[in-house]
Amino acid sequence: MKFELSEEHLMIQKAARDFAQNELKAGVIERDEHQKFPKEQVKMMGELGFLGMMVSPQYGGGGMDTISYVLAMEEISKIDASASVVMSVNNSLVCWGLEAYGTEEQKQKYLVPLAKGEIIGAFCLSEPEAGSDATSQHTTAIDKGDHYLLNGTKNWITNGGTASVYLVMAQTDAAKGSRGINALIVEKGTPGFTVGPKENKLGIRGSDTHSLMFTDVKVPKENRIGEDGFGFKFAMKTLTGGRIGIASQALGIASGAYELALAYSKERKAFGKTISQHQAIQFKLADMATEIDAARLLCMKAAWLKDQQQDYGVAAAMAKVFASRVAMEVTVEAVQVHGGYGYVKEFHVERLMRDAKITQIYEGTTEVQKIVISRSILA
Ligand code: CAA
Repeated sequence: MKFELSEEHLMIQKAARDFAQNELKAGVIERDEHQKFPKEQVKMMGELGFLGMMVSPQYGGGGMDTISYVLAMEEISKIDASASVVMSVNNSLVCWGLEAYGTEEQKQKYLVPLAKGEIIGAFCLSEPEAGSDATSQHTTAIDKGDHYLLNGTKNWITNGGTASVYLVMAQTDAAKGSRGINALIVEKGTPGFTVGPKENKLGIRGSDTHSLMFTDVKVPKENRIGEDGFGFKFAMKTLTGGRIGIASQALGIASGAYELALAYSKERKAFGKTISQHQAIQFKLADMATEIDAARLLCMKAAWLKDQQQDYGVAAAMAKVFASRVAMEVTVEAVQVHGGYGYVKEFHVERLMRDAKITQIYEGTTEVQKIVISRSILA
């Protein structure tokens, strides 16, 4: 068992760290305050290859492994989790699914520009009444011969306003339950497809979250991904990889907050010495460092299993459930280490604390991850 990163991994980690420090940090407070999407920065992420990291070069991607993706996600999430969720959704939920299950035509038409970051994508499963209970799709895709007629509403869709390509799960045959769901590629601008207002969120406020409405939207049959009825399995398989991305995002949020708390503790003086010289703070820092390391190991294990083409579903769920809990705990403690300064925006940790919460909710709540883990244990 090796715990060392390769030269290539270290280069990717450094490139992501430099990008985050040089391009994301400066405006992150303002973007959070005004809910401003990091448009220029996402464009640069595309140019640098961060939006299609694992896609094969044949389809415009970086051909990198999942370990590289975890490393880049951690570095970018340390600074701006609103930018890293764009990266996570585009890589894991959109590009990965298209490369794994799309037709050659779909790959040429959609995957290539998505992997190059020329356009971004969105993954549309959640509905007003279908969150954790994802089989309960109310959006319908009625088979009309050469096309599907799509009707319904999707909620909390990341990249909802800025995406050009949407992977939409919808029920074609309710009698078949989860086996009656299809995954359809829907282009922005298709008649009948409208984007609702942007959600006003607690955290990841720079990311672009919307509801979507579909009214008699005609989607050509050639835009279905996989066989008829494959949509739910497509969504589950895609989300399984996505959970590694969100676990890495949680890891980055935690390690970003920890690094800030560590640096602050060495500067701030109280009772005649730096607060890092007080055992109360030392114990907090020790706990943070330990938890973060454990979260990183779980993320890396899930990524490694995926790269080895081994079953990684439970490992991804464990990584997500643990890393997202660590993100919550560490960010709360980082605010505490900062005292009053931690409660104001200039010191970044309050934003990281708000951003952390979403990692326990999206791409499967903590409870959903525990369903996945416990089913495996009990099987
Ligand atoms: N891989 C492949 N197939 C899978 C699978 C997986 N990981 N999980 C389930 N399936 C298959 C099952 O084998 C079953 O197939 P058969 O009919 O052939 O037997 C079928 O799917 C139905 O599975 P279940 O009976 O297990 O389904 P369930 O209703 O009990 O649900 C669940 C299981 C784990 C709770 C699932 O519904 C789930 O993951 N829910 C959470 C959904 C989610 O993560 N939403 C996130 C929204 S996307 C998002 O947040 C993106 C963003 O914007 C950032």
